[in-house]
Amino acid sequence: MTQRAQWGSRVGFILAAAGSAVGLGNIWKFPYETGTNGGGAFVAVYLTCVLLVGLPVMIAEILLGRSTQKSPVGAVRELSSPRSPWQAFGWLGVASSFVILSFYSIVAGWSLHYAWLALTGGITNTDTSSLQNIFTEVFASPGINLFWHIFFITITMAIVLGGVAKGLERWARILMPALFIMLIALLLKSFTLEGFSEGMSFVFGFHSEKLTAEGVLEALGQAFFSLSLGMGSMVTYGSYLRKQDDIVSASITISFLDTLIAILAAVVLFPIIFTFGLEPSAGPGLVFVSIPVALSQMTGGALFISIFFGLLVFAAITSAISMLEPTCSYFMDEHGWTRKRATLVAGTLVGIFGIPSALSGSTTFFGQDFAAIFGRNWFDTADYLATNWMLPLGGLGISLFTAWKMNEAIRKHNFLSGTKLGVFYRAWVLLLKLLVPIAITFIFLHAVGVV
Ligand code: PHE
Repeated sequence: MTQRAQWGSRVGFILAAAGSAVGLGNIWKFPYETGTNGGGAFVAVYLTCVLLVGLPVMIAEILLGRSTQKSPVGAVRELSSPRSPWQAFGWLGVASSFVILSFYSIVAGWSLHYAWLALTGGITNTDTSSLQNIFTEVFASPGINLFWHIFFITITMAIVLGGVAKGLERWARILMPALFIMLIALLLKSFTLEGFSEGMSFVFGFHSEKLTAEGVLEALGQAFFSLSLGMGSMVTYGSYLRKQDDIVSASITISFLDTLIAILAAVVLFPIIFTFGLEPSAGPGLVFVSIPVALSQMTGGALFISIFFGLLVFAAITSAISMLEPTCSYFMDEHGWTRKRATLVAGTLVGIFGIPSALSGSTTFFGQDFAAIFGRNWFDTADYLATNWMLPLGGLGISLFTAWKMNEAIRKHNFLSGTKLGVFYRAWVLLLKLLVPIAITFIFLHAVGVV
């Protein structure tokens, strides 16, 4: 038997997992959802979900991967039985990763387009309404969306073909900190804006009256989305982790970094939004309008816009490969496919499935007509269902499975080697056994109006 590839070091694993977690979810999705849900109260629920639901689930996922060295479906089967119904959660994860990557790629495509546009002199206007029009035009264009969607999926496939543990680590070490530095620089700019305090009170003021049941569901879904949980990405990454590494401290570090970047993005964007009279609840276009609005004022602004969206694309790639990986390792582990075949098949299928999302802003069947019938366009529907329902449902499954089925095995086989078991361990099991399942179920029922 060949030995499974492993991360070169503990830092390598943390970087890769943080690369999966930090992405469009932090910089594109978190600010716009904070905006549409009225600010502070949403942020507070989000942070609570990260701490009490996300963190315990992340530990469980990484643990499941490391102890079985398998993809999600195989991991669950190995620890239960060949025909166990628990496997359904593995399948759900594969389905979620498909749906998510299919629309994620469209947003990454917008970033690519913006980076390109800024570089080639397409963003020279500085007034707010022309910058808003650019986004409207991009969203409505089938050609732009399809082109960049295919482009992005192709890059993702090319990287996954090389194997996860290779190459990428080196780039992540340079480009992820670069993104962080860029955000800090933007933060300094936000400090100087007159809308700074209004922005802060929007993000941190607790206006509970603005939070709806749907908003609570979105905060939960966003916690899963941003931490890359509920669909097996972290199971797969955990399967490459070495036995001696401490899963708990790694999970804390990853969650902390991810949350830091999301909050930073919101703290950067909202002062801009209030200073320039943009609409906080503008939706998915928020970052694509506000960043150009702020940067185009500066000398050399176009270059910075291009660098910002370029780094965002990189962050999106490191997330996207972690979405493709569960499906690929499933095909490889379960069906004995080669990495090449698994990647080509999975990537092509996701590419095709993303076409309606790419066309969501145009006046085709998948655009306006779909929205007229279902109330949301295809892109928003895919996002809504996968993020808010499928991921938390997957998380529910993994929690119950770990706490009720794996608990004994964890002790017996010393699965948590590298971590001391103690009060903390009991608290973690209790969270997974009770709090996480109850919270998720309650939020689900609340969202559909049952409780
Ligand atoms: N966490 C990634 C982001 O915030 C998205 C992601 C979701 C990645 C689910 C893997 C699994 O952009």
